[in-house]
Amino acid sequence: MNWRKQHINRKEFLRWAGILALVPFLYFWYSVIRVKSFQDGRKKIEIPLSAIVEGLSFHDQVIINREGNTFLVFSSKCTHLGCNITEKQGGKIICPCHGSQYDYEGNVIKGPATKRLKRLDFLIEEKEKMVVVMR
Ligand code: FES
Repeated sequence: MNWRKQHINRKEFLRWAGILALVPFLYFWYSVIRVKSFQDGRKKIEIPLSAIVEGLSFHDQVIINREGNTFLVFSSKCTHLGCNITEKQGGKIICPCHGSQYDYEGNVIKGPATKRLKRLDFLIEEKEKMVVVMR
């Protein structure tokens, strides 16, 4: 009886040891995945937080809508034929080529574009006071 109890404890120990042994492996795997996501061909754009004003601002092929600490980040490439958008007017984002209009969340208000502006992944690096956009 006593032996059986010891055997169960040993199995428990081995199970937990196995789980703990996986932690470094999982951390390594996560690191590799993260590195790959930075090497997947997308361009990394660093924008100082001080350059991002409240409301809408245009940066290197990126449009940012900032409300305090909330950011929406879009590609400035029009979804109609790809013109670079650098204008806003009357609460709308305006494409200079054929007049498509988007709201500040990137949704189409008026065509010819039919698809919303592409949302971009980004990180806020508090330490460096930067927004890092992946496009
Ligand atoms: S490229 Fe923007 S509306 Fe045509």
